Amino acid sequence: MKVVRAVAELRAARPSLSSPVGFVPTMGYLHEGHLSLVRAAAVENDSGAVSIFVNPTQFGPSEDLAAYPRDLSRDLGLLEMEGVDLVFVPSAEDMYSPGASVTVDPGTVGERLEGASRPGHFRGVATVVTKLFNLVQPDRAYFGQKDAQQVAVIRALVRQLFLAVEIRDCPTVREPDGLALSSRNVYLSPRERLAAPALYEGLSAARELWSRGETSAAKLREHVCRVVEPHPEIRLEYVSVAHPATLEEIESVDEDGALLSLAARAGRARLIDNVRLEGAAWSREDV
Ligand code: PAJ
Repeated sequence: MKVVRAVAELRAARPSLSSPVGFVPTMGYLHEGHLSLVRAAAVENDSGAVSIFVNPTQFGPSEDLAAYPRDLSRDLGLLEMEGVDLVFVPSAEDMYSPGASVTVDPGTVGERLEGASRPGHFRGVATVVTKLFNLVQPDRAYFGQKDAQQVAVIRALVRQLFLAVEIRDCPTVREPDGLALSSRNVYLSPRERLAAPALYEGLSAARELWSRGETSAAKLREHVCRVVEPHPEIRLEYVSVAHPATLEEIESVDEDGALLSLAARAGRARLIDNVRLEGAAWSREDV
């Protein structure tokens, strides 16, 4: 496994990767969710590349950039065991040269939901992912459905900027009690950790209600709230029923299906999770 840090080193190493190349961008502190993407990339490609970069431009001024958990040597050990060919660990100075002014703005799809709570977040994500795609030049790139809006933003980016990379999304990996794996789960106190599975319970219960015929977005959102509210450790920030591609809020779920998503605070941690209400729009090219 080759570990490269400088952009010039990456460019020198890239030609030795055999095609097709599968790529998994990460911010490190790897868990089974990340590794599920690495494994999906290994199955579908001849070589695998991973980046580890805590991207400063996707963090807001009051967010956890400095505190974001990091453990590079453990991460490299895990990736070595997965048989990854190339790991790119750039510095912020390498990715953003002094005076860097060019950004990639995803527009409306990045302004709703997480984008409304975290202004500029998806501009930071779209900018760094564009840079990483240009450097690594993957044939396929792998993202987790856990960050559903990120997937929608990246798909819009690739489609609208004609980037020559196939986007694959992979199911959310969860703890046995349903909590979605996240690097930020380390922020949870024992009490908060015990309460946190209520988020997925609420989403699952609402999805169940939908599968039994409830199409009203308001009713589905209410159902999520009812399951989460008995847990004072968790404060819901939003619950959303949105169109799978545009992420526009909808009033009732039709044959296109929907994304049912939420964000919540539990102490220091901000948690997000979602489930798909399966429908035609999920399998269309534009999602
Ligand atoms: P990070 O939070 O490290 O996540 C890297 C990838 O792992 C993302 O595609 C994310 O959706 C996926 N992932 C995280 N938790 C997961 C889980 N429980 N199950 C399945 N996949 C999971 O997302 C980012 O980094 C950054 O925004 C990045 C794309 C690297 C750009 O900086």
